[in-house]
Amino acid sequence: MMAVTQPTSLLLDNPPEPVVSLNEIALDEALDALDPLRHLRTDSDASEFARADEDTVAIVPLQPRSILGETIRLTFPVDFPLVSISLKVDASHGCGGIAWPAGEVLSNYIAFRGIGYLQGKNIVEVGSGTGLVGLVAGALGGTVWITDQAPLLDIMQQNVTLNNLQSCVSVRELNWGETPPSDIPPPELILAADCVYFEPAFPLLVQTLSEMAVSGSTEILFCYKKRRKADKRFFTMLKKKFSWAEV
Ligand SMILES: C[S@@+](CC[C@H](N)C(=O)[O-])C[C@H]1O[C@@H](n2cnc3c(N)ncnc32)[C@H](O)[C@@H]1O
Repeated sequence: MMAVTQPTSLLLDNPPEPVVSLNEIALDEALDALDPLRHLRTDSDASEFARADEDTVAIVPLQPRSILGETIRLTFPVDFPLVSISLKVDASHGCGGIAWPAGEVLSNYIAFRGIGYLQGKNIVEVGSGTGLVGLVAGALGGTVWITDQAPLLDIMQQNVTLNNLQSCVSVRELNWGETPPSDIPPPELILAADCVYFEPAFPLLVQTLSEMAVSGSTEILFCYKKRRKADKRFFTMLKKKFSWAEV
């Protein structure tokens, strides 16, 4: 992933050699091992919401701490547990390697809607990360394809196996803006949790949603966490293609 910040030009006639001691490199490496995503965050901002200053772009959403190879258990709906998912989480796979709040909210919502809502439906989740939302949809009767970029496929497959959902949840690579895998049938339902945070990806995600929602009756459940003013641009693009209602 690339950092997008204000371009800065430094023009020096005789630029000095950077002074970086071996100790600093060793410390950097040790910190990277503990927190693989630390360079990708604006971690000086500890608040829940990113700062209003549009010059500072949070490339990945703020995360509370580093997580490497843990297995957690999440139950939905929270108030009257219907489905329980074991989830391997590992931030070294990229920002999708942990469970994000919007994923938990969307999982809770579909579990709240219940088995009758999902059973018999072809469902695609985009930007699945660990696969949490799709796993919940599979456990509640849907036929599900969880999709993401290549580095996440392994942890997604591990989570499918961990929950014994191989018969109803399949893992596929799907990079937004690229042609969706040809073996995924047109879905009745598309799920997307916490996929709005990187502006260059906005038109790509809109393109993917438009290509997958071929039938006029395809429903997309889109859950996201408000972070930056720029996120509005995504919804402006989305609203040009879809009719929508807040849940
Ligand atoms: C913040 S994470 C959310 C993961 C998961 N949905 C959740 O709620 O826990 C965003 C996800 O979008 C995926 N993603 C970002 N850009 C993408 C792209 N261009 N194509 C496909 N997936 C992408 C990331 O790999 C990551 O898994």
